[in-house]
Amino acid sequence: MNVLVVGGAGYIGSHCVRQLIAAGHRPVVLDNLVYGHRDAVAPDLAFYDANLGAEATVGQILRDEKIEVVMHFAAFAYVGESVNDPLKFYFNNVVATLYLLHAMLDAGVKKFVFSSTCATYGVPQSMPITEALPQAPINPYGQTKLDIENALKALAHAHGLSFAAFRYFNAAGAYEDGAIGEHHDPETHLIPLAIDAATGLRPPLQVFGNDYPTPDGTCLRDYVHVDDLSRAHIAVFEKLATPGTALFYNLGTGTPTSVLGVIRAVEKITGKPVPHSFAPRRAGDPPALYADSTKAKTELKWTPKFTSIEPIVATAWKWHQAKPKGYAR
Ligand SMILES: NC(=O)c1ccc[n+]([C@@H]2O[C@H](COP(=O)([O-])OP(=O)(O)OC[C@H]3O[C@@H](n4cnc5c(N)ncnc54)[C@H](O)[C@@H]3O)[C@@H](O)[C@H]2O)c1
Repeated sequence: MNVLVVGGAGYIGSHCVRQLIAAGHRPVVLDNLVYGHRDAVAPDLAFYDANLGAEATVGQILRDEKIEVVMHFAAFAYVGESVNDPLKFYFNNVVATLYLLHAMLDAGVKKFVFSSTCATYGVPQSMPITEALPQAPINPYGQTKLDIENALKALAHAHGLSFAAFRYFNAAGAYEDGAIGEHHDPETHLIPLAIDAATGLRPPLQVFGNDYPTPDGTCLRDYVHVDDLSRAHIAVFEKLATPGTALFYNLGTGTPTSVLGVIRAVEKITGKPVPHSFAPRRAGDPPALYADSTKAKTELKWTPKFTSIEPIVATAWKWHQAKPKGYAR
């Protein structure tokens, strides 16, 4: 299939591009490089440096490239920033996405795969999190994702759009050959920060809260390998053949790992201590978030290859060793 990968120069999108090629599809990348990296996409691939909200440009690309499916990874995703500057998030994550969807419907492209998030659940009342739990985001970032989920439902009903919204837990790791990996700026994700603390590239890690009601007092999260996420995106294609299909899936391993558990894994894989100190809890950090992904496993036959933290960290470490400072551009 011809697949437009919006946000394909970002962390998860660039991994999906590679998985699409491996599965025999033809990815076309659209990214305005606001956070992405040109070097994350092979130079011989079709690449458009464009804003996803530029409706006429996107429409032209959809037609010229004979796009059949759009995968949408592009969004702003810094939770704290979304609290301080919500309009920035509503314009990019909601308004621009609506223009993208309008361009798609206009061009007759009716298959869509969307990056949603476990942040749409807010602070869930029970664990693990199934798709049936109520969605009640506690920050504008999560709300923008839920707004698009709701818009997609309406478009499926009104216009026969077929879509899958994947609610990711904590994306982690790197492509197994170490050629591409995670490079956010600023970086807020635990594994790259812990690796950089271990190698001395960054100051000691701050662990926010060690008095949570968890086995070691630190927060529990569900780290899911970025290539496992990509495989689910491709596995859903078949299901999108029926017009008006509306699908929602949690993507996580279901195995919670604490912050100290991640630190121990990084120490074991790198062979170096991770200097760290404890700081007070951050507002809005739930003690535990982990997925029940039974629905994706059953309906998509999705079987995560990485089910524990150490092999995931090992891929991140391989990428780090290849490019300690990340992409050049
Ligand atoms: N990383 C995670 O753990 C995680 C967890 C849950 C959900 N998500 C969601 O997954 C998606 C991908 O996350 P990521 O970590 O790869 O982020 P990322 O920042 O690495 O990638 C996003 C890409 O989108 C591009 N982009 C942003 N706005 C754009 C616009 N208006 N036009 C064109 N391109 C634009 C950026 O340049 C970047 O390359 C996001 O939607 C995020 O909300 C990520």
